[in-house]
Amino acid sequence: MGDAPLTRERFVERYGRFFGTQRIETIQKLGYLLIEGRGEGPYLFDTEGQRFLDLWNVGGVNSLGHRHPALVHAMQEALRSEDFGSLFFFSEAKGRLAETLARTAPGRLEVTYPAVTGSEAVDQAIKLARGATGRTEILHGDHGYHGVTGFALTMMAPGEMRDWAEPLIPDFRAVPYGDAASLRDAISERTAAVVLEPVRTDYDGRAPDPDYFPAVRRLCDAHGAKLIVDEVVTGMGRLGHVWGIDRWQVEPDLLVTAKGFSGGLFPVAAVVMRPEILEFFGDNPYRIISSYAWSNVGATVARRAIEETEKLLPEANAMGDRLEAVLLDLAARFPSVIHGVRRTGLLYALDLRDEMAGIGFLLGLFQRGVIAVASSQNLAVPKLYPPLILEDAQIAEFAEKAEDALGALA
Ligand SMILES: Cc1ncc(COP(=O)(O)O)c(C=O)c1O
Repeated sequence: MGDAPLTRERFVERYGRFFGTQRIETIQKLGYLLIEGRGEGPYLFDTEGQRFLDLWNVGGVNSLGHRHPALVHAMQEALRSEDFGSLFFFSEAKGRLAETLARTAPGRLEVTYPAVTGSEAVDQAIKLARGATGRTEILHGDHGYHGVTGFALTMMAPGEMRDWAEPLIPDFRAVPYGDAASLRDAISERTAAVVLEPVRTDYDGRAPDPDYFPAVRRLCDAHGAKLIVDEVVTGMGRLGHVWGIDRWQVEPDLLVTAKGFSGGLFPVAAVVMRPEILEFFGDNPYRIISSYAWSNVGATVARRAIEETEKLLPEANAMGDRLEAVLLDLAARFPSVIHGVRRTGLLYALDLRDEMAGIGFLLGLFQRGVIAVASSQNLAVPKLYPPLILEDAQIAEFAEKAEDALGALA
């Protein structure tokens, strides 16, 4: 390659076929081929020097921005003496992370089992609920997104994401998200767990009514079912609290975290739970194992990510108000395109006229150097996951580019 810059063209020519030609061609056709060069705070730079304001952040993986200096420093320090470590042994890094999770998690949630990805952690939580209750039925909100491993994929709405992999796992049932009366009809002494996201992030970005989660908690208690909250997206500050479910002051039995928990640097996930969940393990604590789970380096990064999140949240919430004002202003000026703005903490969802408008708006933003994403189950709903470090200059940059993109659409 010599010193020539790795342009998109050169990338496709040289490496394209190793990713599946169809995949690369599809992304090219959609107009989203980006060869990542460098990440810096709220920005991503491609290998051709173009700067992108990242308001997707992979749904929160980079919620602290790209390569947050405190986290990079913590990781570099950790690497002086530590590596993955062993799934069998303990360490101070793992101890401090578990302690930090217990300190920040709701109520009596204080025992942690480690995992690597969000999907894996969701699977573990469901197995734990089945093991703890001796029951099999899993009720989950419809149109959720919980990942692509066995149990998690079984909760995916029917369609191209899952149909080709069927048959999946028995005894799962979708209930209408946000509807306590439907859950009341469905839940029974057969139910092992109810699995819900605090906000239905991959469909309409909608938070349920204030009385929904308290009602779900009461129904789970009345029937002896476990409440699992999937905080893979809504945790780590996204809803304006470290853990999203704190908005409703409801204590789940198990809480799943991933994405932002990684600090954007090292894959790490976790299930945090009430201590009694694990009683059924008896004297075999290794019914759940995962070779990469909770590397010592990853544990240090994740603990620092929680601490930074706590530190940044007050200012981030104020920044969130200013970003909301910009979105409401855009909605007022482009009513034919934007029909509504929803905000829960630092998660924003826009109701656009239709799916074509959603696709056009996101591509328009991308072409102007702003990365945002639509709900994969609802392309008319673009979402913003701003990093907690966003500043006024970037809000102004977004406002200008969004206005331009909307103007072109309208
Ligand atoms: C709410 C939610 N749960 C679970 C997952 C799965 O996480 P991962 O992609 O790390 O497996 C995702 C991924 O986007 C998610 O949005």
